[in-house]
Amino acid sequence: MKGSQHFLLYSSLFATSLAYLNSHDLLAKTKQGQVRGFKVNDDVNAFLGIPFAEPPVGPLRWQPPQPAKQWGDEQAFNASKFGDSCYQFHYYYGILSSDANGSTNDPVLVQNNQSEDCLTLNVFVPRNRPAKNLPVFFWSYGGGFVEGSTALPVYNPTNFVEETKDIIVVTSNYRIGLWGFPNSPALPITGQNLGIRDVRLALEWVRENIASFGGNPDHIVMGGESAGAANTDVVTFAYPEDPIIKAAILSSGTVQIASIIGDDEADNEFVRVATSVGCADSDRKKELACMVQVDGLKLKHAVSNLTFNPFGAPSGGTPMVDNVTVFSIEEYINKTIAGDFAHIPTFIGIQDKEGDSLGAITPDGQVNRTASDETTNIMFNCPASLQASVRRGFNIPVWRYRFMGAFPSVTPLSDVGAYHGEDIFFLWNTINEIAPGLITAQPFEVEAAKYLQKAYADFIRDPESGLEKKRHWPKYNQNATTLIQFFPNQSANAVLGDPRPFDEVCLTLS
Ligand SMILES: *[C@@H]1O[C@H](CO)[C@@H](O)[C@H](O)[C@H]1NC(C)=O
Ligand SMILES: *[C@@H]1O[C@H](CO)[C@@H](O)[C@H](O)[C@H]1NC(C)=O
Ligand SMILES: *[C@@H]1O[C@H](CO)[C@@H](O)[C@H](O)[C@H]1NC(C)=O
Ligand SMILES: *[C@@H]1O[C@H](CO)[C@@H](O)[C@H](O)[C@H]1NC(C)=O
Ligand SMILES: *[C@@H]1O[C@H](CO)[C@@H](O)[C@H](O)[C@H]1NC(C)=O
Ligand SMILES: *[C@@H]1O[C@H](CO)[C@@H](O)[C@H](O)[C@H]1NC(C)=O
Ligand SMILES: *[C@@H]1O[C@H](CO)[C@@H](O)[C@H](O)[C@H]1NC(C)=O
Ligand SMILES: *[C@@H]1O[C@H](CO)[C@@H](O)[C@H](O)[C@H]1NC(C)=O
Ligand SMILES: *[C@@H]1O[C@H](CO)[C@@H](O)[C@H](O)[C@H]1NC(C)=O
Repeated sequence: MKGSQHFLLYSSLFATSLAYLNSHDLLAKTKQGQVRGFKVNDDVNAFLGIPFAEPPVGPLRWQPPQPAKQWGDEQAFNASKFGDSCYQFHYYYGILSSDANGSTNDPVLVQNNQSEDCLTLNVFVPRNRPAKNLPVFFWSYGGGFVEGSTALPVYNPTNFVEETKDIIVVTSNYRIGLWGFPNSPALPITGQNLGIRDVRLALEWVRENIASFGGNPDHIVMGGESAGAANTDVVTFAYPEDPIIKAAILSSGTVQIASIIGDDEADNEFVRVATSVGCADSDRKKELACMVQVDGLKLKHAVSNLTFNPFGAPSGGTPMVDNVTVFSIEEYINKTIAGDFAHIPTFIGIQDKEGDSLGAITPDGQVNRTASDETTNIMFNCPASLQASVRRGFNIPVWRYRFMGAFPSVTPLSDVGAYHGEDIFFLWNTINEIAPGLITAQPFEVEAAKYLQKAYADFIRDPESGLEKKRHWPKYNQNATTLIQFFPNQSANAVLGDPRPFDEVCLTLS
């Protein structure tokens, strides 16, 4: 008797300590098989480079993503480093790149290996927590659908997980440029937006597998910046009945920035590359069949050829209207007004001077304020204003922000304001990763980063009311002092402001 009581006592102690150990567990059991992560620091475990799809190579090039096959439990997948970045060419030199070749200080220049076999995701898990049912933040990078990678050091969520302590972050690669958005008429129209389908498959993978990392599959909040915000917004319109996500964070983008094209406008890039590699054929099916055979690296060189393509991808790499994953701008506006989208809580906002890093710097290093403001309003502010107020009209919890802080470490010119992309360094607290040793965050900038992380976390933990309860920020009202202004005058906090002075211009634009 005694022996069996002891046994029970021991086994329950053992179970308790197992549960505790589980929160440190580096082995996760996914549907594909076991995954072995590693300890990043005392607060964070990471599982990097997990394939969520079959490698889209060989005959799977330009095909919708296929779920990853099982690798079984015999040998755990070694999730110790980021997967390859998807093939891309660096068209856009950020405001922080001191050299037009992009070789220094360019936070969005991919440094790790690139290949077609790039459909992997990363899971960052807080340690020292009961690893059960944690909220999940799924983040999608920007880069205009032609650039971006989860391996960029400035996109590393470690500091966020360390600071917030009870949120799992997942970042996921998706095909971009010619590989993700081929725009070839030889493909069926529903087979064009492959990068967007990659994002969907990654979300499905997270829903199926995140519980084995301690996450709650019913509590996935998706966010993204720029094209990543468009990816997030796309989910709400394309899958209104089953968005998978419980809430959305749209930073500097809505579906309206996706410079969407119709099938009649497709094609320039595909033909140009086909010509370059000797596949051009007036029989477009033959051309496609030839292109599928071309070595991946050779294709990358053809895409990157500045002789052919001095300005980046004007068509290749553009989402197309297929009426399934992507709709026309007019249809998006109709769907918005009709309420035909997933009614999920939304945290939406922009940078005060988005346009400053989007082509508005004149050759003598000044900001063309007129040009910058036009970009800010047409591409970002007015679409965000419309989405925020219409969603509130359907009684959806919405908070709207404007990021005002032009912080010195990341602002190279004196008349540049809070520009497109600047907020990412604060969301992830990665100013020190931009150009290690050359750019170092000042203490008040780190304080601002932590403040932004806390605001994100309050929304992610409780999308319906976290910002109201924890921050005392009322839900958005277009006629009231409800616009959250982050970091005015480089302060490390937020104040509520009136949205109307920012939005008057939208009446004249629409
Ligand atoms: C996992 O991969 C890393 C290199 O990325 C290597 O150092 C390590 O030994 C590998 N672990 C196992 C168990 O194979
Ligand atoms: C870019 O690289 C080329 C070749 O190395 C060099 O001649 C040129 O000066 C560089 N441009 C800048 C702006 O540094
Ligand atoms: C890097 O990518 C190329 C394809 O571009 C691939 O052949 C190679 O194996 C990759 N290298 C590593 C180290 O993963
Ligand atoms: C780019 O294309 C031009 C024209 O076909 C060709 O002369 C040049 O060698 C190509 N450059 C590269 C780097 O492939
Ligand atoms: C999408 O729907 C619109 C009408 O709503 C139609 O004009 C267009 O042809 C459709 N496009 C495709 C690719 O189905
Ligand atoms: C959008 O709504 C307007 C007004 O009802 C209608 O005329 C137009 O055809 C609609 N557009 C699409 C693409 O459905
Ligand atoms: C500034 O931008 C405006 C609007 O795009 C343009 O009309 C004007 O010529 C630009 N001014 C300069 C000095 O480049
Ligand atoms: C905001 O004010 C406008 C103009 O006074 C009014 O038409 C609209 O109904 C108001 N909206 C809300 C949400 O209060
Ligand atoms: C920022 O500073 C300016 C000038 O000192 C002041 O006019 C403005 O009210 C301040 N803004 C906020 C939100 O504190």
